[in-house]
Amino acid sequence: MRRQKITIVGAGNVGGSAAQRLAEKDGYTIALIDIVEGLPQGKALDLAQAGAVCGYDSQIIGTNDYDETADSDVVVITSGMARKPGMSRSELLEKNTKIVRSVVQEIVKRSPSAILVIVANPLDAMTHVAYRVSGFPKERVVGMAGVLDSARFSTFIAQALNVSVHNVHAMVLGGHGDAMVPLVRYTTVSGRPVDQWMSKEKLDDIVTRTRNGGAEIVNLLKTGSAYYAPAASAVEMVEAIIRDERKVIPCAALCEGEYGVKGIYMGVPVRLGKNGVEEILEYDLTPEEKTAFDTSAQGVRELCKEVDRILDAG
Ligand code: NAI
Ligand code: 2OP
Repeated sequence: MRRQKITIVGAGNVGGSAAQRLAEKDGYTIALIDIVEGLPQGKALDLAQAGAVCGYDSQIIGTNDYDETADSDVVVITSGMARKPGMSRSELLEKNTKIVRSVVQEIVKRSPSAILVIVANPLDAMTHVAYRVSGFPKERVVGMAGVLDSARFSTFIAQALNVSVHNVHAMVLGGHGDAMVPLVRYTTVSGRPVDQWMSKEKLDDIVTRTRNGGAEIVNLLKTGSAYYAPAASAVEMVEAIIRDERKVIPCAALCEGEYGVKGIYMGVPVRLGKNGVEEILEYDLTPEEKTAFDTSAQGVRELCKEVDRILDAG
């Protein structure tokens, strides 16, 4: 029986960690590709040898040749520069637009039916690049950020309340930037709204910390950005697709009127299954929440305009 095939473009921190998580699932063919010679081959060999200890027998290909990614079911795109301390996500824009464009052009030639999961930053704008360049239907191009941002929100809440993170269900919408929208009203701890568990001041602090969650880790690591939780979040999306889980999770999806937004990728709750983004769920937002969402959308819109300018210039 053919194993489902997942390509990970970019064998750096996020790509390597995602490959490890998928390898440990023991059932997929994983192609890890990078522009740097030896890097994906070395990581693939290392991961295969880890299988002898951990008891998995995944097929792991490390390569610099796109032909080896052919017929992938899902392609995760992590290739791009990571943010350095003091560097904003938008500074990455031009460099990563060109990287994502070239990668997507190679991928679509060999895997015309794949679903693309974008990770490279700035996330919403890079997902827009992949959508434009691939020519794929919107359902088959989706971005990873909401799972990660919601995981950070959940973690901070669980730590503040000294409860298991399994008790927390959090939802963060909007673009993957400082204006993201942690939705307190839709966040519960063991079924009870989170604002009944702690003071408004404490909750406001956690919302702010969540918005700065990526920068907090960049400032600690100093030489790169977060990768364990981002890789886990990307793998959660890959598995929702590959296993047709129809999981409702926040992802960057192309909005065409949903949440009053048209023509840009934004973090919204989606049902993710074998067809990719199968539905965008529209939660009611209060006027304050809607204003925060619109502010975030405006930031994404400006980045997408810049991306369009770069792409149109050739
Ligand atoms: P990294 O620097 O460790 O890895 C990036 C890899 O991409 C490198 O190995 C590099 O050689 C490769 N690469 C560059 N150009 C390429 C090309 N044209 N073709 C193939 N491979 C190429 O960076 P890291 O930490 O893995 O982050 C990757 C990207 O993901 C960054 O843009 C980062 O900002 C973003 N990111 C996004 C998150 C999100 O929530 N969406 C979370 C964490 C990271
Ligand atoms: C993060 O949120 C850098 O976007 C990346 O960790």
